[in-house]
Amino acid sequence: MISVIKGDITGLDFDLIVNAANAKFMRGGGVCGAIFSKAGPLLDEYCASLPEGKAGEVRISPAFDLPCKAIIHAVGPIYEGLTKNAQDLASCYWNSVALAYEYMREHELDKVSLAFPCISTGIYGYPHDSACDIAWKTIKKIRSAFPDTKAIDIVFVCYEQVDYELYKKALRSL
Ligand code: APR
Repeated sequence: MISVIKGDITGLDFDLIVNAANAKFMRGGGVCGAIFSKAGPLLDEYCASLPEGKAGEVRISPAFDLPCKAIIHAVGPIYEGLTKNAQDLASCYWNSVALAYEYMREHELDKVSLAFPCISTGIYGYPHDSACDIAWKTIKKIRSAFPDTKAIDIVFVCYEQVDYELYKKALRSL
């Protein structure tokens, strides 16, 4: 199942949530700041031990005080107006689903829910409409290439009205 909701990703009860992270996996602003604040200081400590990443890469951490089971930290690209950013943004979605699938197998679960914020569309400046297009295309692609990943319920959590409308429109045209 793929669904779209409007709200705060930190306040809802998903199995896994994705953080729009920076390459150092440090506390930041936006959704990253909200996640670190609610997870508590142990998340800062844990993330300080993670090796630095590049755009498109992901890491997993415990959720600490958040209601979810774990956090997937995806390094979004900083938008430069170049087509090369598209591949890195797609990799965030692809690699997050792959890591969620690994988590599901490791924990012998039949299903997990995976919630995404609109990666890179805030502080990193990616245009909302093209980011939405990349997110949907990548999720559809990985589900069609690896049908077992359909056991992962994907939830796009839109914080801003502009994203909510874009994602709803994309959902209607599925
Ligand atoms: N829940 C869901 N979405 C949220 C929340 C929230 N609580 N807070 C903000 N957002 C949305 C924003 O509206 C935006 O659409 O998350 C999207 C991504 O915005 P940012 O959080 O600014 O992330 P990004 O553009 O990827 O920039 C990442 O910002 O905080 C730093 O450490 C982070 O350096 C990294 C950079």
